[in-house]
Amino acid sequence: MKLIVEKNYDCISKIAAELIANEIRKNPNVVLGLATGSTPIGTYKELIRMHKEEGLDFSNVRSFNLDEYLGLEGNNPNSYRFFMNENLFNHINIDINNTFVPDGKASEPREYCKLYDKKIEDAGGIDIQILGLGENGHIAFNEPDDSLSIGTSIVDLTEETIKVNSRFFDSPEEVPKKAITMGIGSILKARKIILLANGERKAEAIRNILKCERISTQNPASFILLHHDVTIIVDEEAYSKSK
Ligand code: GLP
Repeated sequence: MKLIVEKNYDCISKIAAELIANEIRKNPNVVLGLATGSTPIGTYKELIRMHKEEGLDFSNVRSFNLDEYLGLEGNNPNSYRFFMNENLFNHINIDINNTFVPDGKASEPREYCKLYDKKIEDAGGIDIQILGLGENGHIAFNEPDDSLSIGTSIVDLTEETIKVNSRFFDSPEEVPKKAITMGIGSILKARKIILLANGERKAEAIRNILKCERISTQNPASFILLHHDVTIIVDEEAYSKSK
């Protein structure tokens, strides 16, 4: 595991964007694993800048997103498909048909989950996976539990996550109670993993990774420590409880 501690959010965003851009320059057909949430927004802004000012070319890039709320259409402003279009895809030259976000309205969600993993496999697997971190240690929507799914699955969101994520909705009641998420196994299959965290509210979850001696399904993020190529990029506030 490689740890990078930077002064602030801007710095971690620039480093993450540079790592992604390097992968794209090395392999224009790269398969990106993308995340939503507030954390990667700065990284996406920097990638957009690189596209506009430096000609970073996404025309052959394919992408798979980690998760989606169950029941939300892609045109719902709270859906992760909408988020990705708004915060990245609409501003770069990626072919939208090469961008995959789990379908929150899939008619057979359980079958759909299997298909999503198959789609990733058929694309050759994810080359570089970006991860944010839940305050409770979740990655994607893999919530702390007695067991965790290996593949993409339908999960119940915890009360805590519903509360934390309600800041994007008009009220907590509007937050869907279920989601489709790539599983821990789907995530660990990526060739490289980058986990990003910033701000004091992530300090405990970061400490629970960096000081972790035993992986646990109650701390889903601890599983990334089993990966051979993982880089954790944090700002000083997120690192503050790990010193
Ligand atoms: C959501 C997403 C996660 C994300 C997390 C953290 O629950 N499903 O993939 O990592 O939020 O969000 P934020 O970056 O806004 O703190």
